[in-house]
Amino acid sequence: MDIATWLIQTLHVTAAIIWLGGHLTWQHLILPTWFRQPIETQRGLGRSLVARYERVVIPTALVVLVSGVLRGTVFGRIHTIDDLSSRYGLAWAAALALIVVTFVIGARLGTPGVRAYLDDDGAWSVAVRGDMGALLRRRRAFVSALRVELGVMLVVLALMFVMRFS
Ligand code: HEM
Repeated sequence: MDIATWLIQTLHVTAAIIWLGGHLTWQHLILPTWFRQPIETQRGLGRSLVARYERVVIPTALVVLVSGVLRGTVFGRIHTIDDLSSRYGLAWAAALALIVVTFVIGARLGTPGVRAYLDDDGAWSVAVRGDMGALLRRRRAFVSALRVELGVMLVVLALMFVMRFS
């Protein structure tokens, strides 16, 4: 592997570790801890957590996408449309399509879902008085979107190994 290919691969794998690792930490460590805080402090805490999380996740996701495209094409085996019909090419194209799906889920359901959760004044004011119903419905919507995103990312990770051994 030449130095340029090694650099792009290292960038790709590092960004992928941060993205996937960040996603797993967010879902399995940060969210459950956030939701266990006293209801009076949850909203403010959530606003700062979400802002910080987005600052890390959005750029790293874009680096994974761009470096993955370059690693497969300029620095890889895909140079013509015909190359897409090989096992390597099919796995690469599927990874690309699936990662676009995760971006769409994040942009259409994840981010708007968490904003709707944080901005629903009515749901928060009744939750402080003990009625959590409306807030929990909002919470379930964006947590489900995150679970689907994570599932798709794990399928993409499996495709990386299909490419590696093609
Ligand atoms: C969740 C997202 C992703 C993760 C966690 C991920 C992770 C990885 C890892 C760990 C490798 C190194 C595999 C190895 O050498 O054994 C790799 C390689 C690679 N990835 Fe990704 N990746 C992701 C998304 C993508 C996407 C969207 C593309 C295409 C647009 C892509 C294209 C590639 C290519 C072409 C390689 C080099 C494969 C080879 O020739 O051995 N990756 N990726």
